[in-house]
Amino acid sequence: MRVSFGREGRRLHSLLVAAATLETGAHVLDVACGPGTNLPLLLDAVGPGGRVVGTDISSAMLARARRRAPETELVEADLAETLPFADATFDAVVSSFGLSCVPQITPALDEILRVLRPEGVLAVADARTVNWRPRAVGALVTAVASPFNSWYPERDLAAMIEARGLVVERLPVPSPAFVLFRARRRA
Ligand SMILES: C[S@@+](CC[C@H](N)C(=O)[O-])C[C@H]1O[C@@H](n2cnc3c(N)ncnc32)[C@H](O)[C@@H]1O
Repeated sequence: MRVSFGREGRRLHSLLVAAATLETGAHVLDVACGPGTNLPLLLDAVGPGGRVVGTDISSAMLARARRRAPETELVEADLAETLPFADATFDAVVSSFGLSCVPQITPALDEILRVLRPEGVLAVADARTVNWRPRAVGALVTAVASPFNSWYPERDLAAMIEARGLVVERLPVPSPAFVLFRARRRA
């Protein structure tokens, strides 16, 4: 599977990593990391004393991620089940175009927040809704499909994260097709 959102999508990966506000030496988890697009950026951000872990449900994706960033820890895991990390392991969790692939968003968010330390940051970049072109068609398909979708990032994600006690900021994106959220866990 090849997923590409073009130049604006590549810019979104950089914005996502910036949104995570990683300090040197930070420990960061990329959930549903896919072929590892974020991983080199995350490794740069945390430096040699940091820890970068990628998880994905697909071993084929993890093999691609391993080729792209061999020094990363890569773990096969279903985000909607238990992640193999202790509570409060990570300073930050990031996800790009990953959460929207998970219909069971409630257990996935609960797991992400379990492994995020107090005052840690969750940064999420995703497709806003259905982004078919022309935009009017996308809007129509979104409206028609909306009742049949368990959730959409644009419609539901910020409220779901806020309901778990985090403070959510919506950040600027390079295209209206995307959303970017930074959520900080309270102390
Ligand atoms: C659209 S790709 C995005 C990959 C990468 N984050 C990126 O930005 O290029 C979605 C990824 O989510 C993974 N995925 C889907 N459902 C998952 C689940 N339940 N748990 C973990 N990963 C999942 C897929 O295997 C795929 O690699």
